[in-house]
Amino acid sequence: METFPWKPEYEIGDASVDGQHRQLFALANRALAATGRAPLAQAMLQLFEFVREHFSDEERLMRRLDYPGRAEHEAQHDALMERLHGLSLDVAAGTLSRAQMQRFLTHWLLGHMGTQDRRLAAYVHARPRAHA
Ligand SMILES: [Fe+2]
Repeated sequence: METFPWKPEYEIGDASVDGQHRQLFALANRALAATGRAPLAQAMLQLFEFVREHFSDEERLMRRLDYPGRAEHEAQHDALMERLHGLSLDVAAGTLSRAQMQRFLTHWLLGHMGTQDRRLAAYVHARPRAHA
């Protein structure tokens, strides 16, 4: 069973961001299921690359919508990227535990998505035509 099952309530209402969030869950699950240093390193690298693209797409959406919470949201993206980079270094050094990784992914996927992305979702829903 997947550690992070996708739920419909995670959808924010922007098709492209939602597709990427699903993909993120899939990559996070894959990383958590990886055993051995090389598969884990590869899964983390994939996650890292994908997240970078995803954040920049999400930031583009916020700019396009002139989203008032953009600065705060972007600051959280920056902090997450920094943390993810740190974890990648730990993977490369072979010092990352599954528990650490799971803690981070939980904090991020359920924490960030549950607060910042949900706020963005509310904004997107409030002006459904603005980004079409
Ligand atoms: Fe976000």
